[in-house]
Amino acid sequence: MSESENILEELDQILQNGLNALQQVQDEAQLGGWRTAHLGRSAPVMQVFARMSSIPKEIRQQVGQKANQVKIALENALEERSAVLRREALERKLTAERLDVTLPGRQPALGRAHPATQALDEICAIFIEMGFQIYRSPEVETEELNFELLNIPAHHPARDMWDTFHTTTPGVILRTHTSPGQIRAMREMAPHPIRVILPGMVYRYEQTNASHEMQFNQVELLAVGRQITFANLKGTLESFAKRMFGEGVRTRFRPSYFPFTEPSAEVDMECFICGGKGCGVCRGSGWLEIGGCGMVHPVVLQNGGYDPAVFSGFAAGLGPERIAMLKYHIEDIRYFWQNDIRFLEQF
Ligand code: DAH
Repeated sequence: MSESENILEELDQILQNGLNALQQVQDEAQLGGWRTAHLGRSAPVMQVFARMSSIPKEIRQQVGQKANQVKIALENALEERSAVLRREALERKLTAERLDVTLPGRQPALGRAHPATQALDEICAIFIEMGFQIYRSPEVETEELNFELLNIPAHHPARDMWDTFHTTTPGVILRTHTSPGQIRAMREMAPHPIRVILPGMVYRYEQTNASHEMQFNQVELLAVGRQITFANLKGTLESFAKRMFGEGVRTRFRPSYFPFTEPSAEVDMECFICGGKGCGVCRGSGWLEIGGCGMVHPVVLQNGGYDPAVFSGFAAGLGPERIAMLKYHIEDIRYFWQNDIRFLEQF
């Protein structure tokens, strides 16, 4: 075999080896490896170019042409293989991540106020319409404001009405009601007339049941002026109930006792579950309590900086969760803070 045939055959072999190896290439990384091995500086075909000067003149041109053809053929094959691999990869991706662009988009979930907050807002809106202003008062309170200044002395049995969460700081507690805000509002506004509401969370160290929770909201009502009477109190609360529940709503005022009001009453609404016949929710009474109220006790007026000989006032404490229960026929107050989304979603 002549040298020219020899080297031409070698070139054929180089091409064949390259093409065979290319068939084994399965991805981009292997493709890179193949390129270095078969078209890189020390690839067999490149070695032929390097040897060119030692190839006899007569066949140099033929060998050169052939080597070029082989190089171009390998380059073309590389291009083709690369295109095939890209297409295969795309197809795999499309099947794996099938996307139906005709599907309707997903609605982003819109948040909304918690039902207790909704009730609180609604109650506030009604009183604001009647001319009451919102007064903010802290949830962490002193025992003095929560009890003493409201006419509930340290060892008075009336303190048992409010099971209290104490803090590690003596004399500092979680407020058990919004009533201490009365003292704060009076001390800030004396001797001017007052019409405020104090909305917010209160805390009780309480055995929970369908109508008792450890935390709940209250809306405190306070009016102080020169001619405030019990009739004003009754009218205000009845008007509130009608705006909240509709004209036909029945309310009743039941004589009661609170140390900070004299006289005191409890405001009840007819039980929505049994329509007044008596059931588990209203504990057989036919009525549900929505709050306490009364005329501000002279001692409390004085503690707030008002002369009880000149000023009088009414106060009330309403329970927004109780009111929401009446409005939406919710049978257990514990739903409010369990945060079960199936409950919350309904409002
Ligand atoms: N603070 C009372 C409680 O949480 C509710 C209350 C009763 C508030 C009578 C008042 C009131 O302002 O006059 O049990």
